[in-house]
Amino acid sequence: MPPCFQLAQTDAVTWLRSLPPSSAGLMITDPAYESLEKHRAIGTTTRLKHSRASSNDWFTIFPNARFPELFDAAYRALKKDAHLYLFCDAETMFVAKPLGEAAGFKFWKPLIWDKRTIGMGYHYRARCEMILFFEKGKRRLNDLGVPDIIEAPRVRNGYPTEKPVEVGEVLIRQSSAPGDIVIDPFVGSGAFGVAAVSQGRNFAGTDTSRLACDVAKGRLDQAGARPGTLFAPDSRETWVRRPRPNTIQGGEAA
Ligand SMILES: C[S@@+](CC[C@H](N)C(=O)[O-])C[C@H]1O[C@@H](n2cnc3c(N)ncnc32)[C@H](O)[C@@H]1O
Repeated sequence: MPPCFQLAQTDAVTWLRSLPPSSAGLMITDPAYESLEKHRAIGTTTRLKHSRASSNDWFTIFPNARFPELFDAAYRALKKDAHLYLFCDAETMFVAKPLGEAAGFKFWKPLIWDKRTIGMGYHYRARCEMILFFEKGKRRLNDLGVPDIIEAPRVRNGYPTEKPVEVGEVLIRQSSAPGDIVIDPFVGSGAFGVAAVSQGRNFAGTDTSRLACDVAKGRLDQAGARPGTLFAPDSRETWVRRPRPNTIQGGEAA
């Protein structure tokens, strides 16, 4: 049976709160964190302004002040023993780490995504991005031999700040099992969804941008996943059972 996916077009925290408690096996996410806006404002991130996949110049920022509610909602939605990976820059790492811990997560360490080529910034150009590794309860990594630096070239001409599928695949192999539900409340182009379904996991996510949902849906379809209901029927954002004007319907990327 092919893996399933479920997409919503709504706010990350609202969506996480709508999931049944202790229901998701793993969360991998890449919020539109505040300091991205700063990089854009000083003009170092030309690539973020326009992209072929985007008709918008940019996407809405998720303010740092909302991290406490994000971590609380994630903690509630994750199973008893589960991992959470959060992509961010070094500046956001110092904000997010203590807030994740305050929500109940154990912080293990930042992993490094090494993009192999330099990017934005004036004070030492950024070649890497942080992936904060948090744990709820106790969950063993599947392979204790995997290094904390994951190398993969940055995605060119994709969705703004699109992440390589192969980085998501490493995290999914490490922290979930086939059939688990992987969630991402900042879906973007759906890179982590594609990584999940390509590894035989199910995927659920949300994004406030209609464009992002359409791009993600197209990629998930192409990866061979089918739309379905992953969470209990009374979940508020279960779009297959309870159509709402702002959710993606029955597999149509209208
Ligand atoms: C950094 S991008 C994610 C990129 C994605 N990881 C990928 O590889 O394509 C962040 C996404 O968060 C979305 N976003 C911003 N504010 C949001 C919110 N409050 N709730 C859900 N999504 C939001 C943006 O529309 C954007 O698509």
